[in-house]
Amino acid sequence: MSTETVGAGFSRPDKRTIAIAITGASGAIYATRTMAALLERGCHLELVVSDYGRRLLRDELGDAAAIEKLEAYLASKYGEVTRNGTYTLYSNKDLGAKIASGSQNCEAMVVVPCSMKTLAGIAHGLSRNLVERAADVMLKERRTLIIVPRETPMSLPQLRNMTLCAEAGAMIMPAMPAFYQMPKTLDDLADFMAGKILAALGFPHALYPTWEG
Ligand SMILES: Cc1cc2nc3c(=O)[nH]c(=O)nc-3n(C[C@H](O)[C@H](O)[C@H](O)COP(=O)(O)O)c2cc1C
Repeated sequence: MSTETVGAGFSRPDKRTIAIAITGASGAIYATRTMAALLERGCHLELVVSDYGRRLLRDELGDAAAIEKLEAYLASKYGEVTRNGTYTLYSNKDLGAKIASGSQNCEAMVVVPCSMKTLAGIAHGLSRNLVERAADVMLKERRTLIIVPRETPMSLPQLRNMTLCAEAGAMIMPAMPAFYQMPKTLDDLADFMAGKILAALGFPHALYPTWEG
């Protein structure tokens, strides 16, 4: 199983380590925008991408965003500041990876976007792959787990799976960008969701303007 670390990053004691899981729901742009914002802040990201997550990166963002080219894609779209941070890419089959254990130092995990299949796996503690196992670890260790589900309409089992995850301690943050900020581009919509995720992780940001009433 290959594991690859990308970027030199800062050597700083306050560097935060956050797991990012990209699964096969529509909205790959939410994942890349979130990664870029966290890398810009010098974070280390533990990255795992499902097979359909990999497909959606290419289908929705183009070949330049294929997983093996992601570092260059992020730098070209969001700026060289994305090289402030680092990420390690794990195979979704690697249930022996660092983030499969509660003994690792990863403080939070974001599943963005989260498919209904992965949502079901997390809700029922199945741990069939690294995304599900790492999410299960976050829940059992009482650490921050942010799930960004995307589907419409939703079935009753899907709604119940969100409730199960929320009851277990996850934050359910549906991919539902707002329009009161007067977005003009797809990037504005992605900025809004990434900003919500950063705020939930405790990072100050200016990805959307503060509502002044
Ligand atoms: C183009 C495309 C778009 C998809 N969009 C969604 C979606 O928005 N939400 C969802 O739950 N599944 C969606 N799917 C289906 C999932 O990719 C599929 O259920 C897959 O098995 C999820 O596996 P994963 O959770 O391991 O990534 C989509 C599939 C394709 C090919």
